[in-house]
Amino acid sequence: MEKLKRSHMAGTLRIEDIGKEITLAGWVQKRRDLGGLIFVDLRDKTGISQIVFDQDVSKEAFATGETLGSEYVIIVKGKVLERHSKNLDMPTGEVEIFVKEVEVLNEAKTPPIYIKDDDQVSENLRLKYRYLDLRKNSMQQNLKLRHEVTKLVREFLDNETFVEVETPILTKPTPEGARDYIVPSRVNQGKFYALPQSPQLFKQLLMVSGTDRYFQIVKCFRDEDLRADRQPEFTQIDCEMSFVDEEDIMDINERMMAHVLKNIKDVELSLPFPRITYEEAMNRYGNDKPDTRFELELIDVTDSLKSSDFKVFSSTIEKGGIIKAINVTGEAENFSRKDITNLEKYTKDYGAKGLAWIKVTEEGINSPIAKFLSDTEIQSILDKTQGKTGDLLLFVADEAQVVHGALSNLRNYLGKALNLYKEDQFNFLWVTEFPLFERDQETNRLTAMHHPFTAPIDEDLLLLEKKPEDARARAYDIVLNGHEIGGGSIRIHTSNIQEKMFDALGFSKEEAYKKFGFLLEAFQFGTPPHGGIAYGLDRLVMILANEDNIRQVIAFPKTQNATCLLTDAPTSIDDEQLAELHINVKSTEEST
Ligand code: AMO
Ligand code: AMP
Repeated sequence: MEKLKRSHMAGTLRIEDIGKEITLAGWVQKRRDLGGLIFVDLRDKTGISQIVFDQDVSKEAFATGETLGSEYVIIVKGKVLERHSKNLDMPTGEVEIFVKEVEVLNEAKTPPIYIKDDDQVSENLRLKYRYLDLRKNSMQQNLKLRHEVTKLVREFLDNETFVEVETPILTKPTPEGARDYIVPSRVNQGKFYALPQSPQLFKQLLMVSGTDRYFQIVKCFRDEDLRADRQPEFTQIDCEMSFVDEEDIMDINERMMAHVLKNIKDVELSLPFPRITYEEAMNRYGNDKPDTRFELELIDVTDSLKSSDFKVFSSTIEKGGIIKAINVTGEAENFSRKDITNLEKYTKDYGAKGLAWIKVTEEGINSPIAKFLSDTEIQSILDKTQGKTGDLLLFVADEAQVVHGALSNLRNYLGKALNLYKEDQFNFLWVTEFPLFERDQETNRLTAMHHPFTAPIDEDLLLLEKKPEDARARAYDIVLNGHEIGGGSIRIHTSNIQEKMFDALGFSKEEAYKKFGFLLEAFQFGTPPHGGIAYGLDRLVMILANEDNIRQVIAFPKTQNATCLLTDAPTSIDDEQLAELHINVKSTEEST
């Protein structure tokens, strides 16, 4: 018998293929025996086709058909016929293939997870058997989507004369605010490389070297607390440009996103993207990555309640706190007391001490705190929140950070729960004028909000020495549907300002030179003005794939504890290897 060779893909067969002799290869998704006929769903990366083993077509093939189990790998040759009972839910549902020849290429043990999209198995099991999980159509689609996005990005940047340059993975620490992953050096006893948190330092050096427009689709490593949109190793689309300002960078990035969205979603984005300052974003939305697909803005009602009889409010204001409200328009009737208690629990998870509420009804105000509020206060609140009959007003009183944290999360929660946006809506937004510094709560030291190479806004240059906390940065984030998908800045390109920056950060000149001397020295040899940006590719693809966790768009992701359940990394290493690396490992008891 001649060796069978695949001629078609399972998911591509259509009514036009009727009559063709074809060969398919793939996995057995499902087998149904109906006496003289055996139906098998044959799966490959493009989808599923129904194949039929019929005694009357081939006794030999039928006999093999009877032995097939789930996930067996087979190759079949047969004729495409019109299906008797069509399944129009399946792209290939109008045809079936009557098998003349079959070869079992490999048997399979019973798989520990079903290869179907809506299986209910635990994610840990999926991660342990990731190669099986990736057989699912949805996962293959996500891998394909990711490939398409990187292809479009490369194509776009190449057209714009960017050059992709690889930068080192074994390197020195990059200050992006997370902890470093450290690699011991065998050759240089007692010394360590750090894996890059980003290629920041190298891309700036590439500007010094005249590369002019650099990009790289690159792995970055950060040892930080993991969340749904964070992984310890993730991929950036990293760019840097010389002789540019914010306008140039934003323009090119908007066109790049338009190119990606047009090709992936057939959506025409309207350019330029809206911009909002950090301050305005915090005031109106309570966070620096607002989802602008819906309103529900935060409204400051502190002034209306300065002399309130409600102790919670007045004492918060006395202590320098604020009170903000959101108007859940037209929803008063739809939220029972129990529903509101649930919302209150939700805000408490984000640090709020409570959630006060007012329902505006035909009969007036309905609220547990109504008795504490004067008519003037109520009128003032209604004016500010534009509250009218049928509206539900929700309030949090606390220090600004808590109010913003709780209400911004509540806002996102309500936006989703009340279906205030469409799934296929893509709202891009630039957030600008970030503070240059923030204060570390634990050490009380200033740290760079973006990174220490970000330039201050020209008019705030003097603040660098006088009042650094008030200085604003030439930094920008690109936000999509409430996710920070990228961030960047115009950089400091003179060693004089760079030194002032280190000074404000509390680094002595020696410390700064020890850490970044190579960069500071480079800046003395003719550095062009430059700036750039980096996207979290995983986050961008996650949103385009309509997933809510980046693990869904990463082939082999890590768990919340930064482990790989498939390979069992990280593992201990044997004494011999430790000795070569000049490393002593303390026992767990010793190190705790
Ligand atoms: P930044 O630290 O803002 O900037 O990172 C850029 C983008 O990378 C993504 N990102 C992550 N994605 C998944 N898992 C993580 N742990 C993670 N951390 C960050 C985010 C973020 O917006 N060198 C600068 C860029 C520049 O200034 O040009 C930088 O790395 O989407
Ligand atoms: P209490 O007097 O603690 O029973 O609270 C009365 C109402 O005020 C309840 O609806 C609480 O949820 C709400 N509340 C308490 N503390 C706060 C706060 N810090 N901000 C907003 N509402 C609060």
